[in-house]
Amino acid sequence: MTRTVLVTGGGKRLGRVIALTCAKVGWRPVVHYNTSADEAEEVAKETGGVAIGHDLALDGAGHAVIEKARQAAGCRIDALVNSASIFPFDEARDATEDSLLENFRINAMAPIMLAQAFAHQAEDGGVVVNMLDQKLFNLNPDHFSYTVSKQALHGATITMAQAFAPKVRVVGVAPGYNLPSPGQDEKTFERLAPTVNVLHKRLQPEQVADTVLFCMQNTSITGQVIIADNGEHLKAAARDVAFAD
Ligand SMILES: NC(=O)c1ccc[n+]([C@@H]2O[C@H](COP(=O)([O-])OP(=O)(O)OC[C@H]3O[C@@H](n4cnc5c(N)ncnc54)[C@H](OP(=O)(O)O)[C@@H]3O)[C@@H](O)[C@H]2O)c1
Repeated sequence: MTRTVLVTGGGKRLGRVIALTCAKVGWRPVVHYNTSADEAEEVAKETGGVAIGHDLALDGAGHAVIEKARQAAGCRIDALVNSASIFPFDEARDATEDSLLENFRINAMAPIMLAQAFAHQAEDGGVVVNMLDQKLFNLNPDHFSYTVSKQALHGATITMAQAFAPKVRVVGVAPGYNLPSPGQDEKTFERLAPTVNVLHKRLQPEQVADTVLFCMQNTSITGQVIIADNGEHLKAAARDVAFAD
């Protein structure tokens, strides 16, 4: 029987690669987007899936997106990958209530409410994968509001795994630097990527997506985070990789 996976932010970048990777082994993706409608429709076309648009900043977005996904797919959703995220720069010394709220809304509250709505409709064996960041295991003060919002999602990954068991598993995947940072050109990324981790190799988005798929399909894993980063978290960094040169 075909299983359905909802990938938030699935039109571009890592979310797109996750949707394509799942589709290769028989999952049918529901490709969620906010602004990247054309890209999401393209991924849906390529995978035999469907695309749905919704701004995760809107009130009630978590439950609304699960309902839209069910309607579009015509069935219940078997897996949820919370990949959509924002990554604006701020620091503890200048973070504002607005920047904290925006980051918490998109990076923590929306995935938590999506997981809650997902769990209500899931059958035994449902799984949520929350995209975290190796940065949580190798802290630096850059992107302060982003970091603390992902720390909240990390905590929720463990406590939702406890709360939703035995029906639904909740897992985290913490990627390293696998795509250019905002405003960074491809050439700079290619040069820096092998230098930021202890394996001295560029981390490929497909390797992160394979880890997501592993978590979806290995039914023994819950309340756990897998860091997929070529050992980037083992290399202490004073600043975010966005500022490497
Ligand atoms: N890329 C990396 O190297 C890296 C490293 C560590 C962790 N991660 C984590 O892995 C995940 C994917 O990374 P990424 O680089 O692919 O993410 P990204 O490019 O920063 O964002 C992914 C998508 O999130 C969606 N999004 C943003 N705001 C939204 C909103 N208000 N409503 C709905 N969707 C919204 C956007 O969809 P639209 O384009 O449709 O607007 C965007 O394409 C993230 O959770 C990130 O924190 C990535």
